[in-house]
Amino acid sequence: MILTDTMHEPAAIRQPADRNGQAVIHLESVHKTYYLGEVQVHALRGISLEIHEGEMVAVMGASGSGKSTLMNIVGCLDRPTKGSYQLAGVDVSNMTKVELARIRNSRIGFVFQQFNLLSRTSALENVELPTIYAGLPPEERHQRARRALEQVGLADRAHHHPSQLSGGQQQRVAIARALVNQPSILLADEPTGNLDSRTSVEVMDIFQRLNEEHGITVVLVTHEHDIASYAKRNLEFRDGKLRRDVLVRDRMMARDILPTMKSVGEEDEEEQARER
Ligand SMILES: Nc1ncnc2c1ncn2[C@@H]1O[C@H](COP(=O)(O)OP(=O)(O)OP(=O)(O)O)[C@@H](O)[C@H]1O
Ligand SMILES: [Mg+2]
Repeated sequence: MILTDTMHEPAAIRQPADRNGQAVIHLESVHKTYYLGEVQVHALRGISLEIHEGEMVAVMGASGSGKSTLMNIVGCLDRPTKGSYQLAGVDVSNMTKVELARIRNSRIGFVFQQFNLLSRTSALENVELPTIYAGLPPEERHQRARRALEQVGLADRAHHHPSQLSGGQQQRVAIARALVNQPSILLADEPTGNLDSRTSVEVMDIFQRLNEEHGITVVLVTHEHDIASYAKRNLEFRDGKLRRDVLVRDRMMARDILPTMKSVGEEDEEEQARER
């Protein structure tokens, strides 16, 4: 059949180029206002945004521009004051806290700047924790936690406590913990904020592999432009509004960059050699 009457084309055809399949995250005019006694803080002022399955998005913007507020809403840790949020086609804007927790646990993995690991607990047990909340049987819990640690290259550190791991290793444990319930979305709020440059690129390597090989949708907040260039798309927030939304040209691939970077040990040696 030839469609001659374009006025009656289904709406989907007129939408901008389908980036990569389905919209998993769809915000429509989202506002978030915090009330502190008499004072109102407008953290988000009307955000409309679609993120599709398989995208890798970096969120940038000055301190206080609303990035973490956005991540908390996208991650079902908080609800919009106004506007709607559909997660994988389901409107979650008015769900109860219990319903939100259930969705969060099954669909979303979180990674934070401070790692947030339990200090008296081994890497393996830290990774296993979300599977306990999910109510999985012990055998499957151990198996999944081991597999998640393998995915981030830390199988040999399973019994180390956080204090016995480097910052980068701790962040990889935190990523494994985020992966253990097999989420379709990974959210990371300044995941490289506490890491040196090489370790940061190692973390971006893990994110890129999870995105490319496992199709996990990744959304991360960063202050650094070079970290943002490992993503496929960059958003910029200013004063609670989305000011810029661009596809990354000349995207960097961590697996190409890593061999060109020196490890911290090598840098130290060079510095010592210069001093001699
Ligand atoms: N729980 C809260 N109660 C009241 N105000 C808040 C709360 N959380 C955030 N805000 C305010 O909302 C605004 C946006 O904060 P948000 O944490 O989203 O910024 P951000 O972009 O993540 O900043 P940073 O880069 O410093 O992490 C800020 O003005 C902040 O002070
Ligand atoms: Mg923040």
